[in-house]
Amino acid sequence: MPFNQFKNISLNIENYGQVELVNYISLSDEQALDVLHMRNHPEVRRWMHNAREITKSEHFEFIDKLRSSEDKLYFLVLFKGQQVGVINLTGIDLKALTCELGLFANLNTGMEGKGKLLMSSILCFAEKKLKLERLTLEVFLSNCRAIKLYEKFGFVYDRQIFKNGLDVICMSLDL
Ligand SMILES: CC(C)(COP(=O)(O)OP(=O)(O)OC[C@H]1O[C@@H](n2cnc3c(N)ncnc32)[C@H](O)[C@@H]1OP(=O)(O)O)[C@@H](O)C(=O)NCCC(=O)NCCS
Repeated sequence: MPFNQFKNISLNIENYGQVELVNYISLSDEQALDVLHMRNHPEVRRWMHNAREITKSEHFEFIDKLRSSEDKLYFLVLFKGQQVGVINLTGIDLKALTCELGLFANLNTGMEGKGKLLMSSILCFAEKKLKLERLTLEVFLSNCRAIKLYEKFGFVYDRQIFKNGLDVICMSLDL
């Protein structure tokens, strides 16, 4: 796997300071279960293509498959000891210098501004560590909260598509 060096990453992010990224493949069992709990929150999974509850065995199988993945990275984001949420980069193409991003916040904590911290982390990692030049994403047309967040970070609307029976917006950002 070409991303062996990205197990635990420390980023220094403007306006925040130190943020830790823990690769799914090096999560403790306890952290892996925390991530599953976050992903299964009804207000998270309703915005995912796979909106049903994920079982423990599916989750651990998913993590296991990541060990041999050539183009995907999933991280739990920690800030001041708190689990902020998850960021992921898929379809990483180190020739075209692009990837697709995804994220969800830990809605089980009351911490403010989780979305902004997750976005800052993913942009910092993509730019500084992977040296990517372009990020893309897909978001449900009805997910106003996420769209606002993406616009705030400079993502622009590319096109609208119909996917799995839903209206989806494709956005991108040139780094
Ligand atoms: C999308 C998500 C990460 C945003 O996280 P968040 O913690 O709500 O975001 P923040 O509090 O940092 O807010 C960031 C911006 O989002 C927008 N926003 C926040 N709450 C909003 C709301 N209720 N309605 C509309 N926009 C909202 C605002 O522009 C806000 O910036 P501001 O506070 O400067 O005005 C989070 O809601 C989440 O995990 N949702 C479920 C999973 C998901 O939708 N993932 C994206 C799939 S494409």
